Amino acid sequence: MTAIVSIRDLTKTYAPSRRGKGFTALRGISLDIEQGEIFALLGPNGAGKTTLISIICGIVNASGGSVSVGGFDIVSDYRKARGMIGLVPQELTNDAFVTPLATLRFSRGLFGKAPAPDIIEKVLRDLSLWDKRDERIIALSGGMKRRLMIAKALVHEPDVLFLDEPTAGVDVELRQDMWKLVRGLRESGVTIILTTHYIEEAEEMADRVGVINKGELIVVEEKAGLMRRMGRKQLTLHLHEALAAIPPALGPYGLELAAGGTELVYTYDTRGERTGITALLADLNEIGIRFRDLQTEQSSLEEIFVNLVREGDGR
Ligand SMILES: Nc1ncnc2c1ncn2[C@@H]1O[C@H](COP(=O)(O)OP(=O)(O)OP(=O)(O)O)[C@@H](O)[C@H]1O
Ligand SMILES: [Mg+2]
Repeated sequence: MTAIVSIRDLTKTYAPSRRGKGFTALRGISLDIEQGEIFALLGPNGAGKTTLISIICGIVNASGGSVSVGGFDIVSDYRKARGMIGLVPQELTNDAFVTPLATLRFSRGLFGKAPAPDIIEKVLRDLSLWDKRDERIIALSGGMKRRLMIAKALVHEPDVLFLDEPTAGVDVELRQDMWKLVRGLRESGVTIILTTHYIEEAEEMADRVGVINKGELIVVEEKAGLMRRMGRKQLTLHLHEALAAIPPALGPYGLELAAGGTELVYTYDTRGERTGITALLADLNEIGIRFRDLQTEQSSLEEIFVNLVREGDGR
């Protein structure tokens, strides 16, 4: 795999204003985004996600470090780098009085691309906006405006698409449509970098996950590996007869009793070589505790994320 976006030692300190003192939003970020992957950037409010994306897209100047997109430096080769990028910003910015069709034609032209009515039509249809193409933008619903932002980001056929919280405030159906669209784009070779506060979305969509906290990238890892490495599993045994207390013989397992004594919960570490389940089941058998069912549960990316950020904050 080759990196399509390379970020090296990127720092950003926003200049002090009359009201505020300077603020360091990024502290030495280095990251390679592979061609064709879906990369989810997670982090609490104010972590620096939008700042990072804005620098890559040339909206905000870095204080230090460098970024290249498709091998083009975002400062010295700005036009070439920017031409490869589509950006769906966190804040909606649409001209109110022009039409979707006009705005897409204009956007494509901005990137110096030849007019292509067929591509514009496809993008509008893909985002279910074709029927609204001649409407004034002000007359579109919020969800349609958001879809138009995506259409605008795609109309010059970028290689890399940044989606900064694309599904904030979007209904369930539209959200699923968007994910279908994102998957389709990935299949056509587009690299996708998204931020989201819906962690189940990252869990579902992303190939890799980066967690940023207070301007530092604290983890970058394949989602599956991260969940394996950081995840804990729970085994729940549904007992035939309720227990009043955990039998002393089972002390070493650190079990918990739940559901009025009818469930035994065993938490184990997926990192461990042995889970201890075989031994536990043998011991249960020995002391005559029978169960009628069992289930395992793995901690979600959300739990892992919350723990990571908490550790990073030294709490
Ligand atoms: N133009 C600016 N001037 C000064 N400080 C800024 C500016 N833009 C952002 N910041 C500060 O930089 C930090 C990072 O902001 P940023 O928008 O990158 O966070 P974020 O991770 O995108 O958060 P959110 O999840 O809320 O979108 C914040 O503390 C913010 O207040
Ligand atoms: Mg943001």
